[in-house]
Amino acid sequence: MKYGNSGLQGVQLTGVGKAVPEFCLTNDQFAQVIDTSDEWIYTRTGIKERRVLALDETVLDLALRASQQALAQAGLVPEDLEMVILATSTPEDLFGTASLLATRLGATRAFAFDLTAACTGFVFALATAAQFIRTGSCGRALVVAADGLTRFMDWRDRSTCVLFGDGAGAVVLEQSPVDQILGMELRSDGRNAGMLNIAASGPEVEIREDLTIRQNAYQPISMNGREVYRFAVTAVPDVIEKALHRADIDPHTVRHYFLHQANQRILDAVAERLGVPRECFPSTLAHYANTSAASIPITMEEWITQGLLQPSELMVLAGFGAGLTWGAVVCRWGRVA
Ligand code: UT7
Repeated sequence: MKYGNSGLQGVQLTGVGKAVPEFCLTNDQFAQVIDTSDEWIYTRTGIKERRVLALDETVLDLALRASQQALAQAGLVPEDLEMVILATSTPEDLFGTASLLATRLGATRAFAFDLTAACTGFVFALATAAQFIRTGSCGRALVVAADGLTRFMDWRDRSTCVLFGDGAGAVVLEQSPVDQILGMELRSDGRNAGMLNIAASGPEVEIREDLTIRQNAYQPISMNGREVYRFAVTAVPDVIEKALHRADIDPHTVRHYFLHQANQRILDAVAERLGVPRECFPSTLAHYANTSAASIPITMEEWITQGLLQPSELMVLAGFGAGLTWGAVVCRWGRVA
């Protein structure tokens, strides 16, 4: 199947899935163990509750469930996949979790790799998979975003631990006679990497008299919330406008802006800067909090399942977070008729 005269393929998004842990931790339950309140958390962030991985549950379990749902919706079997990208900052194994995911799924023909871009991971992974399909080197790809940030919290630090939850989302991409990905803009800037990180550090260990090494482990998440907030409300509208400009689309003609879910005030501020009604910015913050890379596909899945996003409708997907990284993709949902 060739696309246009260029010999390139188009891309379509044909399935979506999500998975969250069963255990739900409410703001009121939090207030029983740290100095916070439902009132503070809800008015500052829009969060009411979040899902937390159980002791015997893993990010891989969530990623697998989300992937199975996305494949079923696309009407595909795992053997149809040629590529699996797992966007995660919390892999089960630092060497990568994607190949284990592909194997558990039964995607025996696919090659798989992890991609780390924090809360922008889903957008970067979608853009990467789309390029493989466009060049014709891959016909069907699965993009999975899964994070378990509750396992990397300092649970005594009220400025971070109330903000995050665990979850996974997945999207199937396939070749298409018409390209449904219309524009994208991806950015990163390491100058402010220190604003938000899960740093590796550790003690010096003497191996021999003349050899001392450092033995690293990961520290809990650390964030300068005010600075990240300022970054988000200026960088995100900018990158959305550039992606829409590339697609030659007016912001007002888009009814669904699926933004990374970090704070309701960020969603509202971006809507205001773009001059677009707040109702065009779906929010799942109240129930799931910030699920990092997973938040965009989780929110998409909820809107699609409720029939609020119809096939061929325009949408903007925009992520932002540690790195710093940020980016936007303009696309249409669903299989080309
Ligand atoms: O996904 C990655 C991207 N991350 C983000 O986009 C996060 C962006 N930042 C934010 O969403 C907001 O900055 C936060 C929600 C993190 C914080 O909201 P804020 O309005 O910027 O609050 P603040 O940090 O300025 O803190 C205000 C006050 C402080 O007390 P003082 O110094 O004014 O006395 C904090 O100690 O609120 C206090 N505070 C809390 N109080 C009750 C901080 N956390 C809490 C808490 N409960 N959980």
